[in-house]
Amino acid sequence: MENQYYPFYNTPLPYEYNALEPYIDEKTMHLHHDRHLQTYIDNLNQTMKQNPWLQRMSLVEVLYHLEKIPKEQSIEVRKNAGGVYNHRFFFETMSPDGNTQPMGRIKQGIDNTFGSYEKFERVFKDAALKVFGSGYAWLVTDGNGFYIITTQNQNTPLEFGWTPVIGIDVWEHAYYLKHYNERNKYIDDWFQVVDWKKAEEKCCGR
Ligand SMILES: [Fe+2]
Repeated sequence: MENQYYPFYNTPLPYEYNALEPYIDEKTMHLHHDRHLQTYIDNLNQTMKQNPWLQRMSLVEVLYHLEKIPKEQSIEVRKNAGGVYNHRFFFETMSPDGNTQPMGRIKQGIDNTFGSYEKFERVFKDAALKVFGSGYAWLVTDGNGFYIITTQNQNTPLEFGWTPVIGIDVWEHAYYLKHYNERNKYIDDWFQVVDWKKAEEKCCGR
């Protein structure tokens, strides 16, 4: 992943802001990418500027090794590095060419674990609906099996040793403008733009 070290900057979306219409609306994409993600980037840069020794670590390294960071800084780093990582992952694994089906190792893993893609989608949706407050639902792997987990706030799967495959941001800012309080409909719409090809590249090294 490019732009892994301080100073971080906001990489452009890999598609137009309106490209995910009608599932994810243009205004939400602008606010989500240009304001919410930008704020995490600015705050992470600020924390690293004040603690230059952190600048030697990449975005992923700080998240993998939060225990090495003194508590004074680790709260800010966890929140802001997590916010950058999670949002980039979320944006990068959506695509106007989404609505593909899982393939390769992911398809095999989903079939083995859940029985079928349809059953997986139901379990995943239920997990995403049950995230209380702000957070994410993820399909993750440990290199062998595939699992569904949820994380609170901007905690990432990395800090728990998981490699993310796909992940949905269920903070209200991700859907409230279009879907109001209907997270249920937002999750259905998000499934229409999940880019399984990109997920395969990111999680499983192709
Ligand atoms: Fe978000």
